[in-house]
Amino acid sequence: MLVSAKEMLTKAKAGKYAVGQFNINNLEWTKAILLTAQELNSPVILGVSEGAGKYMAGYKTIVGMVNGMLEELKITVPVALHLDHGSYEGCYKCIEAGFSSVMFDGSHYPIEENVAKTTELIGVCNEKGLSLEAEVGSIGGEEDGVVGMGECADPAECKMIADLGVTMLAAGIGNIHGKYPANWQGLSFDTLDAIQQKTGDMPLVLHGGTGIPAEMIQKAISLGVAKINVNTECQLSFAAATRKYIEEGKDLQGKGFDPRKVLAPGFEAIKATVKEKMELFGSVGKA
Ligand code: 13P
Repeated sequence: MLVSAKEMLTKAKAGKYAVGQFNINNLEWTKAILLTAQELNSPVILGVSEGAGKYMAGYKTIVGMVNGMLEELKITVPVALHLDHGSYEGCYKCIEAGFSSVMFDGSHYPIEENVAKTTELIGVCNEKGLSLEAEVGSIGGEEDGVVGMGECADPAECKMIADLGVTMLAAGIGNIHGKYPANWQGLSFDTLDAIQQKTGDMPLVLHGGTGIPAEMIQKAISLGVAKINVNTECQLSFAAATRKYIEEGKDLQGKGFDPRKVLAPGFEAIKATVKEKMELFGSVGKA
């Protein structure tokens, strides 16, 4: 059964490790992530962006697929199904479809409007037992056509949103989605420290997990990050493994064109990436 992300993140914050949010794109992605979490006895969050939601034929299709897998694959570790960077309308659609967690990304609204909409959604989520992630300070890079500049969040605004009663809080600390450019300045640990001082026990969320060096990840966890989002890195490893299979001409040998064979190396590559991240985040054995 899907669970809210609240308990797993409260434990992670207290235990100084982070739970990975891995974004899903299709059946192979979902199965690879769930099986890896089970093998490593790790809690996990499946992230779905609005674009990926459309791609996978809608939120209800995703809920059906994930719930089916939990049962058929005998997944017993805690799994949350989470809307990533949700719009106000998207949050309501996912709540109705059976997601166990949503992110309301109100970072592009003026702070008053972000507060008003977040407050309303907290009420709905509390009533239904869902977790809610809010965002302060837009996260850079491009996601679903929205480009942010990678700003640093204002710690006072973070406190304001945290005090509303959100479950977890994403704050911009110089992180961006996708690959980091060669001239990237790195994470702003001063900002993160100031945010954690003001928000106390609140589990903080680090977006743009792809390509952040291991030492920075560890330092971010030590300063209160309890959830780390990874998307692009699984896409890159899937694409590289699939490219290799095709370039080696394997699809031309015997029944190598069978989609179950074509997609197998990519599937294994996602598993390896998820395993590496769970080990780095410290969530192995924490289910
Ligand atoms: P990356 O694609 O950079 O890993 O970021 C993922 C993310 O933050 C999803 O919200």
